[in-house]
Amino acid sequence: MARKHSGNKGKTKTIADKADRYRLYELSVQSPESEVDFVSRRFRKLTGRQARVLREDFCGTAAVCCEWVRRHRDNEATGVDLDGEVLDWASAHNIPRLKPGQQSRIRLVKDDVLKVSARGMDVVLAMNFSYWLFRDRATLKWYFRAVRKALVADGIFFLDAFGGYDAFREMQEEREIENDGRGFTYVWDQARFNPVDNRMRCHIHFAFPDGSRLARAFSYEWRLWTIPEIRDLLEECGFRNITAYWQGFDKNGDADGRFRPVTSADADAGWICYLTAEKG
Ligand SMILES: C[S@@+](CC[C@H](N)C(=O)[O-])C[C@H]1O[C@@H](n2cnc3c(N)ncnc32)[C@H](O)[C@@H]1O
Repeated sequence: MARKHSGNKGKTKTIADKADRYRLYELSVQSPESEVDFVSRRFRKLTGRQARVLREDFCGTAAVCCEWVRRHRDNEATGVDLDGEVLDWASAHNIPRLKPGQQSRIRLVKDDVLKVSARGMDVVLAMNFSYWLFRDRATLKWYFRAVRKALVADGIFFLDAFGGYDAFREMQEEREIENDGRGFTYVWDQARFNPVDNRMRCHIHFAFPDGSRLARAFSYEWRLWTIPEIRDLLEECGFRNITAYWQGFDKNGDADGRFRPVTSADADAGWICYLTAEKG
């Protein structure tokens, strides 16, 4: 992932110089608590039992693994990521925040999700669209098949997707992030979109109150997969009861963060949804 610092080159360090891009990422785009709430509730609803064994694919800083083992003394988590640097960061920053008993129930594996052997999972997660780095049908099917093999008989695969007409545009979107008086701006940059193959190049930048920036803190080369394409591929790989979940709206018209099963939804400019696929 390419990254560049810009701003003050003098003696005084800028906020960007001192920033930790992994922590900024967590603060900007992750909500492990609500994700684990959703996963445990849906699993119980769909299977009639509690999920205990979870694998977080593309785990990055392993934020969801950590939340999972915090929730119950029988919960176990395996985080899989190719990148040793981010796993080292997780081991140095997130794992030590857990109690020893919780630490003993978490395992970080440096491996390719296409090849990893960790099986016997109640739940496999592929969140924040990470599986979109598989840009052709054959590779995505390979991945989905491998996930299905990793699940127990009533296991469930949880993934997410985004879309809406803005998803097909080259554009930037900014969000202010509160961080105990050390707020910053998160910038989602859809830098390039090719309508011929739906390939997109996206970056995450961070901007700080002193004018400094962490440009291209993270970069992604993805294919923008649509829900019908994802659903067809999951079905072709043997998954059953593929369900999409959409957010409702609060009285101010803002998304309420509560995802409910749907078979149709509004053609909004931008949306994010969860999907579940049952091993069946
Ligand atoms: C967008 S981050 C996802 C972080 C986190 N799971 C989340 O939900 O925000 C994508 C991660 O996938 C990892 N990754 C990319 N290709 C992979 C592969 N084939 N197998 C395992 N991890 C991979 C990258 O190293 C990176 O840490």
